[in-house]
Formats: sequence, C-alpha cells, structure tokens
Amino acid sequence: MFENISKNGIYKNLFNGKWIEAKNKSTIEISSPVDGKFVGKIQALSKEEVDEIFENSKEAQKSWAETPVNERAKILHKAADLLEENADEIAKIMSEEISKDKESSLSEVVRTADFIRFTADEGMHLEGETIGSDSFPGFKKNKVSLVTRVPLGVVLAISPFNYPVNLSASKIAPALIAGNSVILKPPTNGAISALHLAEVFNAAGLPSGVLNTITGRGSEIGDYLVTHKLVNFINFTGSTAVGRHIAKISEMVPMLMELGGKDAAIVLPDANLEEAAKNIVSGAYSYSGQRCTAVKRVLAVNSIADKLTELIADNVKKLKVGNPEDGAKVTPLINDKAADFVQELIDDAIEKGAKLILGNKKEKNLMYPTLFDNVTTDMRLAWEEPFGPVLPIIRVNNIDEAIKIANESEYGLQASIFTRNMDDAFYIAGKLEVGTVQINNKPERGPDHFPFQGVKSSGIGSQGIRYSIEAMSRRKAIVLNIK
Ligand code: NAP
Ligand code: G3P
Repeated sequence: MFENISKNGIYKNLFNGKWIEAKNKSTIEISSPVDGKFVGKIQALSKEEVDEIFENSKEAQKSWAETPVNERAKILHKAADLLEENADEIAKIMSEEISKDKESSLSEVVRTADFIRFTADEGMHLEGETIGSDSFPGFKKNKVSLVTRVPLGVVLAISPFNYPVNLSASKIAPALIAGNSVILKPPTNGAISALHLAEVFNAAGLPSGVLNTITGRGSEIGDYLVTHKLVNFINFTGSTAVGRHIAKISEMVPMLMELGGKDAAIVLPDANLEEAAKNIVSGAYSYSGQRCTAVKRVLAVNSIADKLTELIADNVKKLKVGNPEDGAKVTPLINDKAADFVQELIDDAIEKGAKLILGNKKEKNLMYPTLFDNVTTDMRLAWEEPFGPVLPIIRVNNIDEAIKIANESEYGLQASIFTRNMDDAFYIAGKLEVGTVQINNKPERGPDHFPFQGVKSSGIGSQGIRYSIEAMSRRKAIVLNIK
C-alpha cells in the first residue's frame, strides 16, 4: 500500500492528496542509529513549497469543516483499520529508523490505531451548551447563548523522534475530527515512519489537502513554519529548548506544547520496594530512557535507600542491551550527540562524588544502563534531562525534603509516589508542581484519554483525546435575542 510514497529510496511529501517530489531536489539521508545502515532519504522542502502547502491546506479546510462529523469519524475509523493492517511493516521501519525495540515499535502502532478510533468516537460526542441570560443580575429571560465548537483552521503538527507515529497521530486525529486541516512536520529521524502514517490517512479517503506533510530539518525550515501567516494552531511535542524558542517567535498563535521532563519517583519507607524497583527500572530504561515520562530521578528516603538501590540494580542487570532486532530493550541512542550528552552528565556526577552502581559504558551511541546512588543537588544529573539510560538516586531525610527537591526542578511533567499510606500519598501529590501524579506506578501518558500535561518548562495546555479536540477547536456563541 505504500508504493507511492517513495521512489528510488527518496520519500516524497503528501500534497493535495498526491505524493510529490520536491522541486529543489534537496534531500536528507536517514541512516539507522543502530548500525548506520541507509534507511531512505527525505526531502528538504523550500519556503516556496511551504507557501503552496499552506495555501492548499487553508483551502481544503473549508469543505472539511462542513463535512458532517460522522463522515469524518468514518474516515478516521478506516485509517485506524489500515494502520493496524500494516502495523508490522510500519513497526519494522520505525525500529530501523529510530532504534526502538520491535515489541515497543509494534505496540506504538497498535496503540495509535486505538487512539484514532477513540478520537473518532469522542469527536462525535462533543456537545455544545445553551446558556440563559436570566442567571446574570439585571437580565430577564430574553437572551439565549447557543454555544458550539468550531475548528481553528490550519493546525501545524510538529512531532518528536521518540514516538514518530503515535505523537504525530495524537495531533492529527483530534485536529481532523474537530474539522481542521493539518500540516505534519515530522521529526527528521522518524520522518519515514510518520510519512507511512500520513499515507494511511490518505488511503482511508481523507479529502485532498486536508492532511499535507512538510519534511526538512527543523533547524532550517522550522522558524518559517511556526511564523507562517496561515498557521492557526501549533501542536508541538519536543524539547523545552525548541518549544521555548517557538513560543517566543510565534505571535498570538494558540499552541499546545508537550516538552521535556525530569519525572521523580519518590519512595517512602512503607512502600512495596520490590514493586517500586520494578516500576522504576521499567520507567527509567525502556526505549533507553528516551521518553518524556521516563523516571529521571529517584528520591529515596534514607531508611530504605540501601535496599531500594540493591533491588533497582538487580532489575537493571536483567535488561537486555544491544540491537532492537535481537529484542534488546536498551538500544543505541538516536545519535552520537545524544550519547555524548549523556556521557557528560555521567562524568560530571562521577567527578562530584556520586556512587556508580552500574554502567558507565559507552560503545559509540550505545549507552549501557547506568545507575548512580548518592547523587547530590550540585550535580547536573540531579536537574538535567539526560534522555538516555542513566538514573540518579538522591537520598532524602523525609517527605518534605523529597517534595522540596522534586519541586526545585524547572520541569513539571509527572511524578510517582510509592507508598502504602494514602494520607502521605495525597499529601505529597497535593504539593507536587507537576501535571500528573502517579500513586504506586511509573509515570506514563496512557491511557490516552486521560489528561496529559506539563507545567513549568514541561509544556502548555492539556493533551488527552477529549482535551486535544477541545484545544484544537474553539467555542462559538450565537446569541438569540427574544423580543
Ligand atoms: P526536538 O529536537 O525539540 O525536535 C522536536 C521537533 O521539532 C522535531 O520535529 C524537530 O525537527 C522540530 N524542530 C526543531 N527545531 C525547530 C524549530 N526551530 N521550529 C519548529 N520545529 C523545530 O526534540 P526531539 O529530540 O525530537 O525529542 C526529544 C525531546 O522531546 C525531549 O526533551 C523529550 O522530553 C521531549 N518530549 C516530550 C514529550 C511530552 O509529551 N512532554 C513527548 C516526547 C518527547 P527535526 O527533527 O528536523 O530537528
Ligand atoms: O515521550 C513520549 C510521551 O508521550 C510519553 O508516552 O506512553 O511513554 O508515557 P509514554
């Protein structure tokens, strides 16, 4: 089904329902982070082409907005079915392209099909309201405000490398069901998987121009996209640095941003330590720590810190390291730069006296799972997001010190609390400056209809199926004045 999207290894862009080659012939080579093997080339579109695409998306949105929501939903359901039918092929490409283990790649695709279906159904149940005037002082029953939701126009969806299919679809599907057209700017590493997703929507019968794609390096074309005069909404997931830059340069354009994190796992003395350790290890090291919701620090109360560290280390030792093809869970990082950055944080922690429990081994961009105890707040690892398989354990004296350190982070995505005492759990949860607190589980975004949001440097606005649809639509009021 994907024969049209590439020619001689060069992936095209979806424009007005057709896969087109760029006029300028400028391409970017995508090689696998696993072994450098050629995966394909993507095109770097020019500003002129970007302009044409925006014009086309703007035009296509008009009739899409008029399409009954039940028809939009049928197309989304069809897209979900096609995605599932082609899950193995897409997962294989994703695994090569971003070095994600096979099982996680496949589960990302299947989860995305479920996401699209749920979005289609949720979109059909979005309701407006009527508000009578007489509840406001001085007014009689002579006015009624009829409030409905209408689309915003052209949504620019920018996704990161770590979930190229899911975090593209989690923008596209809610935007479409709300009646917007979408321009997808996929991550450069991950673009090929994301272009397959775009073809799935296209093949499902989406009218021409309702979904277009623009490939090219964010550092080259990104500023032009986010400041384009025809963009009506920016839905961005990626690093805090880029998110902050976009927020600064785009003028008065509403946006939804999911950015970096430094999620803490707070472990109290009465916790089930075996369960906590399992959760922490799975949270910290799956996809080699390249998840915004990875556990990125453990705040362990002193009295159980020795035992917890031992249990975490036992679980880390069981992780398979190597090639995603061989079922490894800790696989090469997305590129050498990412691995060098993780190494910098490790070196800093060692230099400042952290106790290395496991790891500190690097083979090119493959970082072995690394665990530190006795990390202190003067170390970069206590605060910076490694986006790699390294976990610091910070010892604390009590609950209030854990809360203080947790909140001193510039980030505020999620946090976990491990305890059997619900009074303590709710006391801590109430004080943490994060979007979501998990009690006795690792941080995670799903299930995807839950609200998912970051505060502080972790984002703006709420994702989650209904919340994303609401973010990409607006209220419109028509007031009926009765004589
Ligand atoms: P990134 O470098 O910020 O890139 C994200 C996307 O932005 C890519 O498509 C990138 O394109 C594009 N981009 C780069 N510069 C741009 C610009 N000036 N204008 C517009 N777009 C631009 O992030 P990443 O390395 O892909 O992803 C890792 C980061 O994302 C981590 O910090 C992680 O925590 C965060 N993340 C957050 C969440 C969440 O939900 N909170 C989820 C996943 C990831 P190119 O690929 O072409 O550079
Ligand atoms: O980093 C991607 C973010 O959306 C997290 O998703 O499912 O890994 O918690 P998940």
